[in-house]
Amino acid sequence: MTSTWVEPSDTATALLLLGRGADPSSERGVDCPGDLPEPSDPTLVARAGAAKEALGDRVFVLGHHYQRDEVIQFADVTGDSFKLAREAAARPGAEYIVFCGVHFMAESADILTSDAQRVVLPDLAAGCSMADMAALAQVEAAWERLAEAGAAGTVPVTYMNSSADIKGFVGRHGGVVCTSSNAERALRWAFERGQRVLFLPDQHLGRNTAVRSLGFDLADCVLYNPHKPGGGLTDEQLRDAKMVLWKGHCSVHGRFSLGCVEEARERVPGVNVLVHPECRHEVVQAADHVGSTEYIIKTIGAAPAGSAWAVGTELNLVRRLAKAHPDKEIMFLDRTVCYCSTMNRIDLPHLVWALEELVAGRVVNEIRVDPVTAGHARAALDRMLALP
Ligand code: 13P
Ligand code: SF4
Repeated sequence: MTSTWVEPSDTATALLLLGRGADPSSERGVDCPGDLPEPSDPTLVARAGAAKEALGDRVFVLGHHYQRDEVIQFADVTGDSFKLAREAAARPGAEYIVFCGVHFMAESADILTSDAQRVVLPDLAAGCSMADMAALAQVEAAWERLAEAGAAGTVPVTYMNSSADIKGFVGRHGGVVCTSSNAERALRWAFERGQRVLFLPDQHLGRNTAVRSLGFDLADCVLYNPHKPGGGLTDEQLRDAKMVLWKGHCSVHGRFSLGCVEEARERVPGVNVLVHPECRHEVVQAADHVGSTEYIIKTIGAAPAGSAWAVGTELNLVRRLAKAHPDKEIMFLDRTVCYCSTMNRIDLPHLVWALEELVAGRVVNEIRVDPVTAGHARAALDRMLALP
């Protein structure tokens, strides 16, 4: 059997929706400070290979699963956010960590590595719109609001997809970081220490984990809107809630709808629907399997030949899975959703530029978290890494 991969039809529209203007992190106005090679340069692959060889063990390249094929081919390790954080922490010998992913991932790598190691993000405009939805001042205000409402015993938990500032806040207040692969364990850890969780910044991961994995009711969760006075909640609502969910979301995964699931099931009877937990609750409830990018890869890898899969996550990964498993029928869950525009900022010209600068002894686009914030954030990350 051959793969029946069908390219989502409306990628151009989706790219526009998720590109500049819709994404605060891409409005930072970060232009490449150096001379980028032309994308059409036919020697780019050879140049990246030569620069990596020249640097040898001094450089370690990490690649998130959403990266482009042209970049992922140069990654020493690929993974989900959790695996990449662990890999970064486990490479004390590498002088340079080149992070092919987004800003919050590179910050976490800097926090988890020694001061002597330098972390490079090939394009500083590779942010994350979800991480940008929680600013430190807003979170401090929410914390005060919870105290004023008498909501004692609240433990903050932040998704890895948040800035170092937010991780630092959580570390200072006795909380923990989680990723999509350990959110259940992190929440159980938090509920052993308090009676309520403030979950930042992804409402969907928080709600999906609380309801699916911990057996909470939807009514146990309230949505804190940082743009409304008092978060848009009464004192009583805050006190009664088990999960106070921050009103943040991923613009890529937020586009999958229940209609997409129904349409896939109608189109391909017997199809397995596999989605990332950043998808909306009704999508996750209607899916057959839910998990991190690493889980998605393993699940499809272990599936029998001839099985059909509709996958709700970023397009680079789904397309790579379809190519790697021509004996299975793998399709994108929606016809119109496309790439994560910020992940996609890291392309081969940026990688070649960053590597060649390192060969020349210049560290470009370095990610450095200030030591005080890093210390607090490290406490929250270490608690995550120590979860059973
Ligand atoms: P994973 O940890 O599952 O790789 O997810 C990271 C991410 O940004 C998903 O949008
Ligand atoms: Fe952020 Fe969503 Fe992109 Fe992941 S897919 S990096 S959550 S914008």
